[in-house]
Amino acid sequence: MSRGKDDPLRVGVAGIGYWGINLLRVFHEVAGCRVAAFAECDARKREAAAARYPAARAFESLDAMLDSGLVEALVVATPAEHHEAAARAALARGCHLFLEKPFALSVASAQAMVDGFERAGKTLMAGHTFCYNPAVERIREEVQSGRLGRLLYVTSRRLSLGQVRTGVNVLWNLAPHDVSILLYCLGAVPERGAATGSVFLQPGLEDVVWSTLSFPGGMRAHLELSWISPLKVRDMVWVGTRRMIQYDDVDPAARIRIYENRLDGPAQAYDSYGTHLAAVRSGDVSVPTLPNEEPLRREAAHFVGCVRTGERPRTDGLHGLAVTRVLEGLERSMRQGGASVGLR
Ligand SMILES: NC(=O)c1ccc[n+]([C@@H]2O[C@H](COP(=O)([O-])OP(=O)(O)OC[C@H]3O[C@@H](n4cnc5c(N)ncnc54)[C@H](O)[C@@H]3O)[C@@H](O)[C@H]2O)c1
Repeated sequence: MSRGKDDPLRVGVAGIGYWGINLLRVFHEVAGCRVAAFAECDARKREAAAARYPAARAFESLDAMLDSGLVEALVVATPAEHHEAAARAALARGCHLFLEKPFALSVASAQAMVDGFERAGKTLMAGHTFCYNPAVERIREEVQSGRLGRLLYVTSRRLSLGQVRTGVNVLWNLAPHDVSILLYCLGAVPERGAATGSVFLQPGLEDVVWSTLSFPGGMRAHLELSWISPLKVRDMVWVGTRRMIQYDDVDPAARIRIYENRLDGPAQAYDSYGTHLAAVRSGDVSVPTLPNEEPLRREAAHFVGCVRTGERPRTDGLHGLAVTRVLEGLERSMRQGGASVGLR
């Protein structure tokens, strides 16, 4: 089915589960596209979505939806283990692809996607939602402008009770968020990494992971990931020599706090309160106003814009590949008892 230059892009969403229903909603709202179809193999979920979006044609499987020829751009929110097959199916039918995280479960699979979509001249975008979050964009601006001074370290905690996945461990499920944020804000990839984890619920699948990434210049990031914590925590702390940032994604009133704290070191022996003050100074705290826009909606609009203009997505296939390389390295480290491994 051909499309005129001004016709809306025909989008199909596959997997209408916990996350896919949100994608269906935002693509329904975004200008320049229309949700032509969706695919969901669970009849109850499919019927519920069909009742809400009667103009979109409902299919039982992703393959049946693609075979219909109704879809030019595929949005995939099926479980992680299905992403590789979904990408191959999209490529075989000449579709553009928005692929939810985790982008791929191996570097080889991510590389094959990048090569295939590049050759086909089709848009490939990783669903790294946080890179479209105004709070994360603000952190990037602070880092890239040098206002934080020399970045010393970052800590990130992503904890909650559930959702426990069955096909991937907590590293592959949650760390794509932290790693994509780090790569986007720093504009750099880590040189080395190490990770350890603990298994409690399912054989061979870590429920809790602690990891350290080392970036060029000595900056380190520490990640703590868990889906069996009593706390819902999504916070990051960015510590620079001139400013420090706290990013709390579950505090809508103050997602970002900027601390005008600074390090005037080198630290001297702590012989008096005066020498302590000379090394570390605390300053004012500000809470910047951020655009009140839903990141997922911005991400969907970005994808549609990129397909229509041919612009490269912010989280393109190469970004997805870079994040996958870090995750694969950390997985290797866990299998080697937490050894430091090269990530490039
Ligand atoms: N970006 C984010 O912040 C974010 C948040 C949550 C989940 N996700 C990602 O979204 C994806 C889905 O996660 P979820 O929590 O919605 O899982 P889910 O299990 O709730 O939903 C997946 C759905 O896909 C359906 N499905 C599986 N194979 C299919 C096929 N071949 N054709 C049609 N439907 C099929 C299942 O029936 C199920 O309803 C995962 O990759 C997850 O990592 C991303």
